Amino acid sequence: MGVTYFKRFRMEIPLQLAPFHAPRLPDHYQLIRWDLTLIPHHADAKYRSFCSEIDSNVFPCLGDPSGCHRLMEEIAKKSGFLPEATWLVIYRDPDDGSIEACGTVQGIGDPSNGCGNIQNLGVTPEHRGSGIGSFLLTKALDGFRRHRLERASLEVTAQNIDAVKLYHRFGFRRVKTVYKAVEVAYS
Ligand SMILES: CC(C)(COP(=O)(O)OP(=O)(O)OC[C@H]1O[C@@H](n2cnc3c(N)ncnc32)[C@H](O)[C@@H]1OP(=O)(O)O)[C@@H](O)C(=O)NCCC(=O)NCCS
Repeated sequence: MGVTYFKRFRMEIPLQLAPFHAPRLPDHYQLIRWDLTLIPHHADAKYRSFCSEIDSNVFPCLGDPSGCHRLMEEIAKKSGFLPEATWLVIYRDPDDGSIEACGTVQGIGDPSNGCGNIQNLGVTPEHRGSGIGSFLLTKALDGFRRHRLERASLEVTAQNIDAVKLYHRFGFRRVKTVYKAVEVAYS
């Protein structure tokens, strides 16, 4: 076994500087508010968003369907879990009417320091680049505001260029660099 270190940025934004209005979702997409029965759908969207991405190396549970399910259950049980900052986006195929979960975000709030933390923003690969990620992020930030939090924070892997760009565009700024140690098996 060996250890690999992944460079991660902690980024923050004061909520009064963050975008207030979510852009419209494209046709055939629908936003779904949090409900406990949605855990399998959030977990499914999370798994398909992360399984082929760098973060599934940083957090191996993200590369495994049951790991994503467990993670969703843990997040939903946390004391600061905020349903108002937790959203699912579904896509309804106009041809056959089938429905799939294609985007997820969860929020955790800490009133003691006025900070809302974004967890695992994910959009499945075939639905990226249409504004779903921006929409989910705006909704989560709005949920933090409703809880009178003052700023939002998140951690992102430095190599995750698309995500870093998205957060920069929103106005998030880097406040700290951390290194996440991950055990790897050498063959
Ligand atoms: C990061 C992630 C959530 C972004 O989701 P997304 O739905 O593609 O995000 P958006 O479509 O809102 O924005 C992505 C880009 O598409 C562009 N875009 C937004 N709306 C658009 C539209 N209607 N048409 C074309 N492009 C559009 C945006 O300008 C943005 O470009 P930019 O980052 O250069 O500014 C997604 O890539 C993902 O799930 N990655 C894997 C999981 C992950 O790493 N998550 C982050 C963990 S910290």
